Formats: sequence, C-alpha cells, structure tokens
Amino acid sequence: MPYVFSREEYERRVAWYTQARFGLFLHWGLYAIPARGEWVRSVERIPNEDYDPLLRQFDPRHCDMRAWMAAAKGAGMKYAVLTAKHHDGFCLFDSAYTDFKSTNSPAGRDFVREFLDAAREAGLRAGLYFSIIDWRHPDFPHYGDRNHPMRDDPAYGNEGRNFDRYLDYMHAQMRELCSNYGKLDLLWFDYSYDHLRGEAWRATQLMEMVRALQPDVIIDNRLEVSGEGFGSLAACKPTPYHGDFVSPEQIVPPHGLLDAEGRPLVWESCVTMNNHWGYCATDHYYKPAPMLIKKLVECVSKGGNLLLNVGPDATGRFPDQALDILRDIGRWMERNGESIYGCGPSGLDKPDYGRITRRGDTLYYHIYENTVGPLPLFGVDKDQIASIRRLADGSEAPLSTSWVHSDYPELAFADLGPDPVLPDPVDTVLEVRLRAPSDR
Ligand code: GLC
Repeated sequence: MPYVFSREEYERRVAWYTQARFGLFLHWGLYAIPARGEWVRSVERIPNEDYDPLLRQFDPRHCDMRAWMAAAKGAGMKYAVLTAKHHDGFCLFDSAYTDFKSTNSPAGRDFVREFLDAAREAGLRAGLYFSIIDWRHPDFPHYGDRNHPMRDDPAYGNEGRNFDRYLDYMHAQMRELCSNYGKLDLLWFDYSYDHLRGEAWRATQLMEMVRALQPDVIIDNRLEVSGEGFGSLAACKPTPYHGDFVSPEQIVPPHGLLDAEGRPLVWESCVTMNNHWGYCATDHYYKPAPMLIKKLVECVSKGGNLLLNVGPDATGRFPDQALDILRDIGRWMERNGESIYGCGPSGLDKPDYGRITRRGDTLYYHIYENTVGPLPLFGVDKDQIASIRRLADGSEAPLSTSWVHSDYPELAFADLGPDPVLPDPVDTVLEVRLRAPSDR
C-alpha cells in the first residue's frame, strides 16, 4: 500500500514525543576502547584490519542497562535512544548478517535487547539509532567517499563494489531490528550526504518495510538530510520516508521551526554533554547542569525536544561527570518538570529575565535572574490570572500592588517577596494559571 501522508495520523504518532520533550542519546560501541570518539576510524584513517581486533577486546562487564535507564529516569528523561550500529558497522545486536557484533565479542551479549528491556521496564519510550553508513561493509563506497576511513587511498577503489548489495544488507538489518525486538518507539537514522540521500538508500522500500512492522514508530529526517537541512515534511512535500522530526545537531535553533506553510515543525536538538558523542577519555569539557537545564527550557520554549547524549566508557559505565550532571538536572526536573513536559512556545516575547513555556492555560515563567522590585508578567492581563505559584514548592507569589510600577498599569507584576536571592539559583519557575475564557 503506497504511503499517503495523513496529518491526523502524523499528529497522533508524534503526540508522546512532543509530550516527552527530554530524552537520552547513547553512543556506545567498540570506539569506546580507543576512547577518542565515534569517528576515530574516519579521523585516523584506520583500516578494517586494525580496527576489527577491537571486537576481541569488547567485554564491558560493568554495563548495567537498568542502571543506565535509572540514571536517565532520574534526570527526568522520558525516552532513550541507543546506537544499535554506528558508522563503524559494529552491531550491538545479534544480527544474522554479520559476525561483527557484540554477541560475538567476549561480552557475548545482545545489548540492544538488554537496552530495550531495561528502558521499557523503567517506563521509558525506547528508540534505536541506526547508521545507514557502514564503513566496514565491502560494498560501501571507500575511495573518494566524503567520510570513509580509506577515502584518500586509491588502493581502496570502488571497482566491484555493489552498492545494491550493501543496501540489501542494510535493509535486512533494519528488518531484524523491526522484527525481533518488540515495539520500537523511535528510529534515528544517520545520515544522508552528497548523493547518498532518499532513494539512493532505497528509502521508500525501507520505510514500507519499517511501517509494516512498526506502524507507530517515528523517525528522524536523516534518510533525506543530516543535522543540516530540514527535509520534505518541512517543505510540505512529504515523501514516504519524510522525517517525523527535524534533527538540529549541537545547536538550539535561533527560533522555533516552521514548515513552508507556517505550521510549527516537530524538532529535537541532539546535544553532547562534552564535545563527543562516543566516549572520549580526554574530553573534560562538560556543559554544566545549569546550562543544560536552560538549554532544555530553551528548546521547549521554541517548540522542540532536547536529546542529551552520554557516551558510556569501555567498561560499560557512564562517566562520573555525566552521572553528576544527570543527577543535578534530575533534582531540578523533579520540582519543575511540569514546566517542560507537554509544554511548548508561549506565544509571548522572551522576557529579559528568562524564558516562558506554556501548556494550555498555564504559563511557566522561568526566572534566571531576579528583577529589582516586582516581576513583570508580560503577555497576561491582571484579570486573566487565576493564580501565581512558585512551581517548586507551590507557594503563592501574589500579584503586586506596589506603587513602584504604577506607571505601567497595563502590566501584571508578581510580588516575589523581600529576598533578592531567588529560591533556585538556576531557574525559579512561576506557574501562572489563567482563568478559563468563560470565567473571564
Ligand atoms: C553526526 C555524527 C555522528 C553522530 C550523530 C548524532 O551524524 O557524525 O557520529 O552519531 O551526529 O547526531
């Protein structure tokens, strides 16, 4: 049955995702052993014969997927995405089509299955990242490709390479993942470039198979583009393999994203905690938790999700810095998650003291820095306001009646009390409930 885009079906499919807002990205595989990031093969021009032996060393005894999911849940994350296979071709699942897989390593484990079981047990939605690029497969372009580890070596010419045979392999593995691991909530394909996009991947055939096996799964836009580009749904010309969400990478878009007809687009910023997706032992440049909390608020205030990445190490543990950051984010989310989940743009200008998120008739004013005197609640009339509460403890912050703002009668001001130091040094959230229109 040819795919016909249905906006109603699409909005039903993505409803959990735009409600969730915050997820964990997990980049993990053999590249955790060299510990120089997931592109180490490409950056250092490592041939198969020098990389393959890592398989014999892969034995992450401390990998406890339940602990990973507990850390994600503790951070307030609602979904998780694990690299089932990255560009190096190493499979964290028991694929029948290759020996280059974790079940053939000393670990002898199907980590995709363990991950999906643990995520579901923790009540998280679960997705798989799947690289459509495969630097290890003999039929994938080598010499002259933009990224292949052997791209500069004429000895790795492409005579005899049969890309269709590679696509048969790639599609077969996607069929395995969609058939053997239960319900998948999300597939994160990565990524299209140069001429390798869309039907070059036999993307319609791929998605017909995926949708037949996983009718509710949502997919990113990287069968068409990459972290750059928006895709056919944004152009209002959806292909059968259109992304369900746009996937800006290592950036929060300057503003909310709209399609060609002005409809808000579903999007997700994927962001590393340090500067690497895969574990990098020397990369200590971790973004502080307060910064990441504000980036999450920024994404939601612009109508997007944040997919925050952790690269577990070769023992199967999260780096300590990552665990500390997840814990700090979780402490804030435990008190303030209502201002994130199911929220989106407020339709109001960003106040200079912070940001605003909204869900229906409730506005959340995120206060990063206190004001001198009462706080202006831009965008709402005094008579619209039913209540003003500090979200973290439910305490009332009354409407101010102070003379100091008598020159601005059109504005509502909240009285935050005499303490110039905000209760939460990172983001103090005011919940402002508006009267239902019938009550105004
Ligand atoms: C880019 C990187 C890839 C990473 C992905 C995550 O495509 O090349 O390594 O997995 O971004 O978004």
